[in-house]
Parts: sequence; C-alpha cells; structure tokens
Amino acid sequence: MVMLKTPVWSPSELYRHLNEGSQFFILDVRNEEDFNAWKIEGRDAIQTINLPYFDLLELEEEDEEIAAAVARAVPDRLGDKLPRSGLILAVCAKGDTSAHVAEGLRRLGYQALNLEGGMAAWGNHYEMRVVEESRRLTVLQISRPARGCLSYLLASGDEAMVVDAARHTEVYTRIASEHGWHITNVFDTHLQADHLSGGVALARELGADYWLHPYDSIHPDDLLPATFSFRYLEDEMELKLGEVNLRALHLPGHTLGMVNPLVDGRYLLTSDTLFIDTVGRPDLGGRAESWAPLLYRSLQRLLTLPDAAVVLPAHFSQMREADAQGCYRASIGALRSHNEGLRMLGQGLAVFSAYILSNLPEHPPSYDEIRRVNTGLIEVNEVKASELELGRNQCALSHGKK
Ligand SMILES: [Fe+2]
Repeated sequence: MVMLKTPVWSPSELYRHLNEGSQFFILDVRNEEDFNAWKIEGRDAIQTINLPYFDLLELEEEDEEIAAAVARAVPDRLGDKLPRSGLILAVCAKGDTSAHVAEGLRRLGYQALNLEGGMAAWGNHYEMRVVEESRRLTVLQISRPARGCLSYLLASGDEAMVVDAARHTEVYTRIASEHGWHITNVFDTHLQADHLSGGVALARELGADYWLHPYDSIHPDDLLPATFSFRYLEDEMELKLGEVNLRALHLPGHTLGMVNPLVDGRYLLTSDTLFIDTVGRPDLGGRAESWAPLLYRSLQRLLTLPDAAVVLPAHFSQMREADAQGCYRASIGALRSHNEGLRMLGQGLAVFSAYILSNLPEHPPSYDEIRRVNTGLIEVNEVKASELELGRNQCALSHGKK
C-alpha cells in the first residue's frame, strides 16, 4: 500500500476545531446509510457533503493509484460543490480511504486533510474538563464528544470514584494514576441503554466496590437478573469519598433504579434524569405511560435542592450546550427557567405527561442488546461493541418536536 503524507487532523484536533467553531467543510465518503445514522456535528452547523467512496472512484486500470483516480473523478462527480478556499476534511469509517480522497483533492489544489482513524477513532475519543480542582474535592467531567456521553471522576485526597464509566476503562485508570488517586468506588447511576458500561470491568480490575440500584440490575424486557454482584444503592444512602459526602437520591423515571449522587451538597450528577436543555426519556423500559409520572415526581424532588446546586448530566445532545470552558453544567436555578422539560413541570402532571409522550424519539433497536451486555447476560467482542455503540446517544427527549 502507498503511504501518503497527507496532512491529518487527529480526533482531538477535530474536537478543538469543533469547540472553537472553526470554519471548515466535510467530505464524508462513507456509504449513505452510515452517514445518515451518524455524522460529525459541532457547536455550529458544518457544511457537509456525503459522496460514497465507490461513487467517487472508477479505476481506469487495476493498478492505477487511488489518489490519482480520485483527482480524475472529482471535477466530474463533485463539480463546484467543494469550496475552492478553506479546509476540507475527508472522513470515512476508519481513515484509510479518506486519506486517498484527501490526497486526490490536494493534487487538484484543494486544502484537504484527512480525519485520522476516521469515525471509529472519533467515536472513541475522550475529552476531560475540570469542573472543580482542590485537594478536598476534584470533579472531572469526561466526555465522549462524538456520542454525547459524559462520565465523572471524583476525587478527595487520594481516594477517587468513577460515575457512569464508559467501556474504555483505561481513560479513568490513566487519569487516576497521573494524579496518584486510588479508585475505590465505581458507581453506575442506572442500567445504561445507549452505551456499554465499563463499571463492572473497572471495579473488577481495581478491586473497587461497584454500586447500582437493585431495580436496574434486572433487564426490563424479560426480567432476567444481572450476572455480576454489586453493592445496593438505596434512597438517601450516604457514601463517603475522602473528606466529602455523597448523598444518593433515588429518582426513578428514566429507569426504575435511577440514582443521582449529590456530591458535597453542591453537585448533582443528574445522569439521564435531567440534561442541560431537556429531560430524560421514560419510555426505554417500554412503559412510558406509567413511568412518566415517576419522572414528574423525581424532577419535582430534584427542584427542592438549592438553586445554586450544579447539575452535571450524563449526556448532551449538541455541543452548544457546553459553556465557554467546554463543560456541560448549569445551576438548578438557571435550568428552572431555561430547561423546556422543567418548565412543563409547573403545568401539572397531565400536561407534563402529554408533553413527554408526544416528544419521544425513536427507540434504537441496539438498546435492548446493550442492556443485555450491561447486565452481564451476554458478552461481546470489540467489533460488536463498536457496532452497538455506533452513533449519538438517544437518551433525551426530542427537542422542539411539538
Ligand atoms: Fe440512560
């Protein structure tokens, strides 16, 4: 294979440009189905064209250089659709074919780059933001920007806890060892449906305690119990992390066993109960009508916390929900007026439930299988894990769908 020296953006460079709102253009050469299922999104809309690689390429001879064939095909297939000035990022599934596309474009004078590792690498990229940092309490928000997943590493003194660990557990162990922290507790707020939890594996690897509410150790479809052991979370349980206290609030609605930890009385890790713009969906257990009132009561209870308490959710839908530091957080006081779901609470249970039921997004078919993995009922290899986690999370209520 020809080694190309085409300039690249790594996933972290892509993240930086997305976060800064840089102007660039994307040529995505994956097939249409994959493109429609999941694309790169930033704070602002990014001009993107999807043209599957095989539509772009017809080799004149079997041994024709691919970049040369791309350069030959582009004027005809893409005409004036590509910008003559400004950066063009070529994207494919793994970053191999898009390298040839970027190289072909460069030969035509375009300022093209390749996304290193393609969508696979982008999907597995993590970013870290400091919410608070002191010896008494450090709160780190660890995001997986392509999927909109957020997890947390909390530390007090030398002791650390991970909340809602993603499956790439090395992300947490690396940060902890850099800081000299010992992860003694791993806490899953609920049985995740949109991504594979790393909670059980991380706790096993470290000999840490793994915490979960017993209701969420049962698969909601066939009621099969989890195959791993865990420590039971219950409402108003107090956990100690170094010098700080965590108060466990059982807030059912998104799932029956949803537990949100209130850290040091100041940070509420709201998981999929409450997001920055919207609220969690109560239908993933297949019982939206009976779970919506649970969500209603849980959100009302959550609003009894002080206005200054900071909400740290488990997901975001759009990058522009982040603040200037790239952190997804907001005070309860601010969300009271800005969050659409919380505003609906004031109108009573009937209106709230009707609002919830009319704004439910599709139930992705992979979610049942993901929960099967997360309850330890089945095991999957890396290829299958990536396939199950393809695309952005769908844990929130739809936005603006009236
Ligand atoms: Fe969830």
